[in-house]
Amino acid sequence: MIELTLNGGPARTAAEPETPLVTVLRDELKLTGTKVGCDDGRCGSCMVLVNGRVARACQTPVGKVRGATVLTIEGLGSPERPHPLQQAFAETGAVQCGFCIPGMIMTAKAMLDANPRPSREQMVKALGANYCRCAGFSSIFQAVERAGALLRGEAVPPPPLPLGDCWEEMAKATGTARYGADLVREGMLHLKVVRSPHAHARLLGVDAAEALALPGVEAVLTAKDVPFNHHGR
Ligand code: FES
Ligand code: FES
Repeated sequence: MIELTLNGGPARTAAEPETPLVTVLRDELKLTGTKVGCDDGRCGSCMVLVNGRVARACQTPVGKVRGATVLTIEGLGSPERPHPLQQAFAETGAVQCGFCIPGMIMTAKAMLDANPRPSREQMVKALGANYCRCAGFSSIFQAVERAGALLRGEAVPPPPLPLGDCWEEMAKATGTARYGADLVREGMLHLKVVRSPHAHARLLGVDAAEALALPGVEAVLTAKDVPFNHHGR
């Protein structure tokens, strides 16, 4: 059994120590605010804080957080009581699809904890491992600057989006918005897309026998299963 302090309270899991922390958070503890973008350490959407330092939850075995203090986006604040970072992201328009935002906010939290008045260059460096594919980083930096001012107790100008009007942005910034991958239905099957590891290779055939023999595998679909397909052969 692995025990840790999670979002201020005790938590435990019987998962194997090598299980990724993000799997335990999302699948077992139902904390789906932590997102999985790339699942191999490149996008930053799964960032959480472990003992106050940023960690990619997809690359952190849960055994490594035994006895540690872990903070996820849900532990930072809620739509009713948002952290200044969550508030600033929502009210400055820095949240678009919102998928990257929980990881972005957790990284920004670690940065502001260490440096309450970061320069733009320091922000660029600190957030460089977090990818956003829709909002554009300038609104994200504005949100972090605004949150820094709020945390320092400084006056800030009225927000572009009044807080009461941005409930959807707030849901995304607090990890309470539900995306497709966050939904679970009884008996639900999961789809895994398998791509060739060889760029430009010509695929001559797919032998699915080994995959079909694995427990829990219901079907393997290939181009042959797509009745009208411009691209498959
Ligand atoms: S999902 Fe962990 S870094 Fe992309
Ligand atoms: S808001 Fe969509 S990826 Fe960042």
